[in-house]
Amino acid sequence: MIDVRSLTFKYQKTPVLKGLSFHVEKGEIFGFLGPSGAGKSTLQKLLIGLLPNYGGTATVMGQHCDSLKRSFFTRVGVDFEVPTLYENMTARENLQFFASLYSRPCFEIDSLLDRLGLKQEASMRVAAYSKGMKSRLSFAKAILHNPDLIFLDEPTDGLDPTNAAHMKDIIKGLATQGKTIVLTTHNMQDATDLCSRVAFITDGQLRAVDHPQAFIMKRGAKTLTYNYRDGEQLMRKSTDLHMLSQDPAFPYLIENNLITSMHTDEPTLADVFTDITGGRLEP
Ligand SMILES: Nc1ncnc2c1ncn2[C@@H]1O[C@H](COP(=O)(O)OP(=O)(O)OP(=O)(O)O)[C@@H](O)[C@H]1O
Ligand SMILES: [Mg+2]
Repeated sequence: MIDVRSLTFKYQKTPVLKGLSFHVEKGEIFGFLGPSGAGKSTLQKLLIGLLPNYGGTATVMGQHCDSLKRSFFTRVGVDFEVPTLYENMTARENLQFFASLYSRPCFEIDSLLDRLGLKQEASMRVAAYSKGMKSRLSFAKAILHNPDLIFLDEPTDGLDPTNAAHMKDIIKGLATQGKTIVLTTHNMQDATDLCSRVAFITDGQLRAVDHPQAFIMKRGAKTLTYNYRDGEQLMRKSTDLHMLSQDPAFPYLIENNLITSMHTDEPTLADVFTDITGGRLEP
């Protein structure tokens, strides 16, 4: 779907993308992760043809990104970082307007709004929408024309946990149908839950690409902490996971059903992010 080789890009004279190479397969949910200012949105803009003066090669669905044909745009859906909705129009009017721009059939608007939990608010002006409602409507706009490739920037930003989970289910469902999804996020939980592969970008360079679980496994769990009963007292012990077989108390506690809880201190993708980018996640 996407093939990028030795990609470079400058804003005026400042290099922003410094020799990126990667590919994205059909049906993948591919995540771009990286600190603020790393070049993620620039890369996304370049891949949808907005920044044609680049170096190296970048092809999306077989077309070069510096000369995309009209047919390309009917197959791509983009949920931009910045708002792109008409505030004085209702949600339904917004989607009707954008649907009228496409030559290919679009989803039935009211059922799409219903799917995103916006049925009751379909006739409300977007100016009166909350942040999370706007976010869901922007997503509806991005998938309105049933595109084959979808770019999403922080898809669960501003959503409450229920709506965020629902949104993630919809995104997974689209990938199951064979759609390709490229998402940019600072939310490491979203990236872990959704992405088949993630690419870490810092300072315009690609540092590592792999499955989220592969990154986590490489770092490995180090210790096991268990809580157990000792007479009337509740005790806690931590042991190196690889030394567990040499902990004499552990089999005894198991056999006598004295362990009340245990957990491993598994690293998260946020730990991997800190390792790779050398920085902390933005709040
Ligand atoms: N239109 C522009 N003109 C000049 N410089 C720009 C422009 N847009 C972005 N930049 C610069 O390019 C660099 C990368 O910006 P970009 O928006 O791609 O970062 P990002 O990774 O998307 O960050 P964030 O996570 O905050 O969205 C930054 O140094 C930014 O200042
Ligand atoms: Mg950005």
